[in-house]
Amino acid sequence: MRLDNLEQVIAPARRPVLALGLAALVAITIPAVRRIDWPVVDITLWSCWAFFFVDTALAFLRPVRVDASWQALTQWQTVVGLLVVIPVPAGFLAGLPAPTAWLFASFWLLKLQSATAGISLFSRVIRQQARPLAAVISLFLFVLFFAAVAMHVLERGAQPERFGNLAGAMYWAVTTLTTTGYGDTVPVTPAGRLLAGLVMIGGLAVFGLWTGVLATGFAAETRRRDFIRSWELVARVPFFRGLGPAAIIDIAQKLRSEDYPERTVVIRRGREGDSMYFIAEGEVEVAGNGPPVRLRAGAFFGEMALLARGVRNATVTTIIPSTLLVLEVTDFHVLTAHYPELARTVEQEALRRGLIQEKTDPAA
Ligand code: CMP
Repeated sequence: MRLDNLEQVIAPARRPVLALGLAALVAITIPAVRRIDWPVVDITLWSCWAFFFVDTALAFLRPVRVDASWQALTQWQTVVGLLVVIPVPAGFLAGLPAPTAWLFASFWLLKLQSATAGISLFSRVIRQQARPLAAVISLFLFVLFFAAVAMHVLERGAQPERFGNLAGAMYWAVTTLTTTGYGDTVPVTPAGRLLAGLVMIGGLAVFGLWTGVLATGFAAETRRRDFIRSWELVARVPFFRGLGPAAIIDIAQKLRSEDYPERTVVIRRGREGDSMYFIAEGEVEVAGNGPPVRLRAGAFFGEMALLARGVRNATVTTIIPSTLLVLEVTDFHVLTAHYPELARTVEQEALRRGLIQEKTDPAA
């Protein structure tokens, strides 16, 4: 229990400590700072290291505490933990000067959860887009080589020191194709300049392709992950269980999952509403006209604004950290048109809650 409390203190401090540590790392590489007598930068860096040591130890102990097994610790977690803690002291033990040993503190960046999530997303995109990326890289190398050969032929007479050999011409081709253009190697002959213009345009086209392939890959992977998460969450909501797989796929595509910390207002009474929520995980409190009502995982709320197209009749606040599935009003109407049983269940629940009146048949 005490370790849980420690984790709760450490988690929000991770980013500020990381920022402080990286600022101190930059500072220690500046000679003027190193000459200051008071070892403020060293103290800061060692304090940050101690913080990450405790943080990593807790991360290693968590699976043991929760599942009583080391096996739940993933390979990636282990690698990150070791890279964050070991290289700095190992650098000092190996006799490296302090500004060099502390450079290993760059691995602290791996402690950023979003960074590691980004790395895993990026590596998956690269694997999935391997073929189109290989095609673009081949095209890039093809243009690079031919541009270098052509420029070598056109410019070697005028600038033998820069374009006299193919290596120099290739350096020019790389800086031009990547649109970096340092300006240290430039063609001077009219034909060379004409070729440079064409290579610049070619460079933009190749990088446009490269960007397009990566952007498409990222979008597809993000959509896939969102879908898998929504699918898992939808399957947990009893409300959807009676529907077939085709309906669940349809619904999972329309729902957006949102994570809310504890004591967070999701819906405020009196505001216009344009979505309803299903509780996949967690618990909320509804404060309306009557006594407060608690809704747990599997329940839904926010349907009244969609059924009656009015304003919210209660304020809904999370009690514990909760994951909610959000359904926008337009999607609600599309879904209920396809699956009338959904509309009936929502209406029956609103009736049970006393939020709407039973419809009377005007003919009766
Ligand atoms: P809506 O009016 O859109 O936003 C507030 C939501 O709180 C409302 O929809 C219902 O989903 C929910 N709500 C209001 N009153 C009750 C109640 N008595 N019991 C359960 N849920 C309620």
